[in-house]
Amino acid sequence: MAYETIKVQTEDNIALITLDRPDALNALNSQLLGELCEALKEADESDRVRCIVITGSEKAFAAGADVKEMAGKSYVEAYVENLYGAEAERIGSVRKPVIAAVAGYALGGGCELAMMCDFIIAAENAKFGQPEVNLGILAGMGGTQRLTRAVGKAKAMDMNLTGRFMDAEEAERAGLVSRVVPARKLVQEAMEAAEKIAHKSQLSVLAIKESVGRSFETPLSEGLLHERRLFQATFASEDQTEGMDAFLEKREPQFRDK
Ligand code: HXC
Repeated sequence: MAYETIKVQTEDNIALITLDRPDALNALNSQLLGELCEALKEADESDRVRCIVITGSEKAFAAGADVKEMAGKSYVEAYVENLYGAEAERIGSVRKPVIAAVAGYALGGGCELAMMCDFIIAAENAKFGQPEVNLGILAGMGGTQRLTRAVGKAKAMDMNLTGRFMDAEEAERAGLVSRVVPARKLVQEAMEAAEKIAHKSQLSVLAIKESVGRSFETPLSEGLLHERRLFQATFASEDQTEGMDAFLEKREPQFRDK
């Protein structure tokens, strides 16, 4: 499919989605969000794709929802259109692993998009923020919810209430990003991580994503039970036999998603 605001390349088993509105620092307008949702759906349903990477440019992952597009909306329009609701649900419900490779600004909806991914790899120049407070609004796609779970109340309140940006080093210390790498190596590093994931058993990978995701939705006892049941279920797979045989035979496993 031909997209205008994103680029999609599928290399081996990895779909690399690059946000591409350079003149607006990849601000998320409805066209871009629509195209992103379509590309994610396609990748999620593809037999070939096993992992997805979302990135932007060196200057901006995404500088937020498009203020020019949002500015004229009334409350009734925002409510009736369910502003960003469908997109947030679509992006948040991808079953395959999604890695955000973030360089430059990840602000407002850009930070929220990165947090909807399963983990974030940040370039040294990355800057995260929820500056919606400066526009007389608040975050609308998880900036008060996922950020609080990721970095705790103190930093989430600070960032949402003051609008200050967090650099990559602070973001790593706070647990928002999993690793920080030089900007020139960002996409390569994310693709290598995706490649690693692509070589695992897809059953393990999907169950891990489901189980970690569950930890945000349930009390500990329910989450542990869910995890234990999924763990036990893997013993019904050939990949479990292969993984353990390969370990005992001191060779690399050949997973077949069976
Ligand atoms: C629309 C944007 C934009 C945005 C940048 N641009 N961010 N357009 N929406 N969110 C446009 C600018 O208007 C400008 O276009 C061009 O991109 C370059 O931006 P500059 O401001 O000239 O660049 P710079 O001086 O380097 O400053 C970078 C910046 C700044 C610090 C990132 O652009 C900025 O503060 N942007 C807004 C960040 C923000 O408030 N984000 C939250 C949005 S609300 P022109 O045409 O003038 O050259 C939000 C709500 C989420 O995300 C709710 C759920 C999704």
